[in-house]
Amino acid sequence: MAILVTGGTGYIGSHTVVELLNHGYEVVIVDNFSNSKPEVLNRIFLMTNRRPKFYQIDVCDYDGMTEVFEKETIKAIIHFAGLKSVAESVEKPELYFKNNVGSSEVLLQLMEKYHVPNLVFSSSATVYGVPKHVPLKESDKVGGCTNPYGQTKLDIEYLLKDYAKEHKEVNIAILRYFNPIGAHQSGLIGEDPHGIPNNLMPYITQVAIGKRPHLNVYGNDYKTVDGTGVRDYIHVVDLAHGHLRALKKLEEKPGLVIYNLGTGKGTSVLELVQAFEKANNVKIPYIICDRRPGDIDENYAEVSKAFLEMGFKTKLDIEDACRDSWRWQRKNPHGYD
Ligand code: NAD
Ligand code: UD1
Repeated sequence: MAILVTGGTGYIGSHTVVELLNHGYEVVIVDNFSNSKPEVLNRIFLMTNRRPKFYQIDVCDYDGMTEVFEKETIKAIIHFAGLKSVAESVEKPELYFKNNVGSSEVLLQLMEKYHVPNLVFSSSATVYGVPKHVPLKESDKVGGCTNPYGQTKLDIEYLLKDYAKEHKEVNIAILRYFNPIGAHQSGLIGEDPHGIPNNLMPYITQVAIGKRPHLNVYGNDYKTVDGTGVRDYIHVVDLAHGHLRALKKLEEKPGLVIYNLGTGKGTSVLELVQAFEKANNVKIPYIICDRRPGDIDENYAEVSKAFLEMGFKTKLDIEDACRDSWRWQRKNPHGYD
């Protein structure tokens, strides 16, 4: 009986696969390498001495996915596969809808056909839109997404809720991630963005290694502690453990459950820069620029529900994440290439 991990060679997927293998789970990965590299599989082997089964298939391909379900005995699915660039989603909303919602529809059809009872889905804090207050609770209003990527996550949440209503035997955990950063302590796996990074931490590490001259800080006139944007940065290894907790929770047959995965603590852009400099003893030059369109002042999670209901609590902090991101970048200056 295996856990099917879609998108298992991606950033969060690869870290979760390592934790699953280290905890004795059997893992089957499906990924089409649209945003990851085959080298990840070698790294996973180096780290765990185990080779999970791997299928290079697009999750939107119903026939291809049917073959996987025919060959493997799947007891639960973790569905990471998805496109995640906010900027690209504004240019290509249909691609995002087809890939993200389409792949989820195929999985639900196959869950029904092959009687797979449990699913964990990668959602995002972006479903809360522009927050009216922080910390954000799972019961807070969702919607008002500012981009097509966020809208696909919300559409999938609704799809899953409808499915769960019609299939009482099914258990689904919707996990709303805040801002994942960091890398595995070994420095063997980490985030490997194409081109100019959109997100803050990979941009900082590229400045640190000399690929970019300085960080652009998008605005210092937000209503926050120092004027720069505040986010809830969660170490990717903590996030990976959150998925193991969610799988255990689903064994209690709770129906559909929703959890924030964050630390509960906000950190500003300049605080993250300072933490990175302190943890790694490197200087990060920066300039203050205009705000990035669509950005919000402040965003962090209320985390008590995940703790009370599935015992999830983060163990690593911002400094751990800064150290681990830098180790990954230094050991792999060109990512997996
Ligand atoms: P990632 O791009 O590193 O990983 C996604 C993986 O899915 C990639 O390996 C890609 O090749 C694969 N993939 C995409 N579409 C596919 C398809 N149709 N069929 C097969 N494989 C496909 O992204 P990540 O950061 O690891 O994110 C994983 C999930 O978590 C995504 O769904 C993302 O939207 C969600 N999420 C990520 C963040 C974040 O900041 N990284 C935050 C909130 C939610
Ligand atoms: C972004 C996405 C969000 C996604 C999340 C995942 C946007 C608008 N939103 O959120 O949908 O779920 O990533 O991690 O892209 N910053 C800089 N300079 C940079 C990069 C970022 O100052 O070069 C600032 C941003 O203004 C923000 C903070 O750093 O205040 C974090 O930015 P980022 O890492 O892109 O994450 P989010 O904007 O929270």
